[in-house]
Amino acid sequence: MCGIIGYIGEIHAGDGGAASDRAADAPGSVGEIVHRGLKNLEYRGYDSAGVALAGPTSGLTVAKRSGEVDALSVPDVPDATLGVGHTRWSTHGPPTDANAHPHTDCAGDVAVVHNGIVENYEALKAELSDHEFTSDTDTEVIPHLIEEALAADDGDDDLLAAVHRVEDRLEGSYAICAVREGDDRIVVARRGSPIVLGRGEDASFVASDVTAFLEHTRDVTYLEDGDVAALSPDGVEIFADGEPVERTIETVTWEADAAEKGGYEHYMRKEIHEQPSALRQTLAGRLDVDGGDVDLDVSFPPGFLADLEEIRIVACGTSYYAGRYAAQLFEELAGVRATVEIASEYEFGAGRTPDRTLVVAVTQSGETADTLGAIRRANAAGARTFAVTNTLGSTVTREVDGTAFIRAGPEIGVAATKTFASQVATLAMLAVAVGRDRGALSAADARSVLKDLQGLPGAVQQVLDEENQVREAAREYQDSEAFFFVGRALGVPVALEGALKLKEISYDHAEGFAAGELKHGPLALVTPDTPVLAVLTEGARADETMNNVTEAQTRGAPALGCVSAGEEYDTLDVSFDVPDVGIVEPLAANVYLQLFAYHVANEKGRAIDKPRNLAKSVTVE
Ligand code: M6R
Repeated sequence: MCGIIGYIGEIHAGDGGAASDRAADAPGSVGEIVHRGLKNLEYRGYDSAGVALAGPTSGLTVAKRSGEVDALSVPDVPDATLGVGHTRWSTHGPPTDANAHPHTDCAGDVAVVHNGIVENYEALKAELSDHEFTSDTDTEVIPHLIEEALAADDGDDDLLAAVHRVEDRLEGSYAICAVREGDDRIVVARRGSPIVLGRGEDASFVASDVTAFLEHTRDVTYLEDGDVAALSPDGVEIFADGEPVERTIETVTWEADAAEKGGYEHYMRKEIHEQPSALRQTLAGRLDVDGGDVDLDVSFPPGFLADLEEIRIVACGTSYYAGRYAAQLFEELAGVRATVEIASEYEFGAGRTPDRTLVVAVTQSGETADTLGAIRRANAAGARTFAVTNTLGSTVTREVDGTAFIRAGPEIGVAATKTFASQVATLAMLAVAVGRDRGALSAADARSVLKDLQGLPGAVQQVLDEENQVREAAREYQDSEAFFFVGRALGVPVALEGALKLKEISYDHAEGFAAGELKHGPLALVTPDTPVLAVLTEGARADETMNNVTEAQTRGAPALGCVSAGEEYDTLDVSFDVPDVGIVEPLAANVYLQLFAYHVANEKGRAIDKPRNLAKSVTVE
């Protein structure tokens, strides 16, 4: 997830920003407008920043560097009338100066900023072998493809036509802005990644979200997938399948602060709702469903996986629960012993064989001190180490032998939500890869798991569509004395995660248990004032779990269940339908628990994005 911004208009340095009445308070040059837009988009990533500015006599000027937007010195281009900018959240290639956007063609005449992933970039790059590439990014193929299209014999040397042609070549998701020396337009294309146009009086804007230009105009047009647009100071032309189309102009009524969160009151709720797109990004280009295989772009020494004795997952908090889910998948799909350890408790231990052990750190931030400590102990013992993380260039990636990125996009809320789903999805793909390599998983069984994974984003969306039902339940039970979460098998980590989410943001007492354990002690706590929330899905031994729920109900506890669609437990007080997605169904159920925690906390007016006493990244042991 990156942020892009573009501006074209009549504002010049020293004009005082009089592009339109709406822009009357907006001081400065094109460079300043683009820079301010980037600042507003920094929540989308801050690995690097860059701009391309152009004016009638000054040509195209590009400046970019690694680091946050404030580290970028925007060049002074006095006659600039257009500019594009980018703030990066790295997916392909580490956060270096060279990998920062904009990327240019060989001559430096075309500059492109991009948000998304070009899945077929390796094939395209091979095709463009006579072009000079200067970065490791997937994006860089785009300006070179535009260069080819502009020079093609059957082309017409026009930027808009060239972008139309290039669009057909790109697989994956993208929102791009392209500019060309001597061309007074910004050309925009969209497929799968967000982009919005802003319509000023003598100026046009484009950005990943409206916050970037809300101070200039509230009149916006959302592009549809496949749209290409040409922006000039006079307005916007939009094309679909090469034909001009009209798209509605809407007026934004949010204040800037809310818009930054996409209209959501809290980042946490925004991130809960981002899960379908985050999961799509996690899975993009990695599933070969027909072939029953995955391509995670990771490799192990020959024979290592075949001889593997044990996978040991080390992690903290939510990442630890993702590990608990994954350990069951490794045992079932890869036929290898898998254990999960709280990172701060981990020691390599006697009696284990380092050269036949894979230690996997699961960490959203890649900076958690306890997890880094565990990895250092594993390295010291001589084990092979691996990381599953959201953060390119993070410390953990430099200390392990291999890494798989979960590609969930920046998570701002302290409570981990979308990264949990993306972690488990990534670990599930790793389990399939290891299982296939070891010959423990047939192609047919792999296909079935991959189909479940493929269905997960849609299933999560169906759960999100039921948010009102969860809100009502949260209102009804918010004042309870305590909350117990139960499940079995894959339902256990989800129950534990559900309880963590609730306690973390609502400050209510909540505990998760393996359902069978209730009767061994915790049942003494159960009263009519302690609702039990149960995971009653496939993969979670629903009928047996329901028996334990009934034991709690007999002691007066209200019961809420996340139930596989088509199944029914009549005695539940509240039943949430979970779409059928097989082995990842408990993950879809987890979204109900996230929403429940969110709405209980929201009813109580808690500081949801920054709960008391906590930090997003815990860098102390
Ligand atoms: O960045 P990490 O995944 O290593 O962080 C681990 C935990 O600190 C984290 O998951 C924490 O438990 C979350 N705030 C829970 O929502």
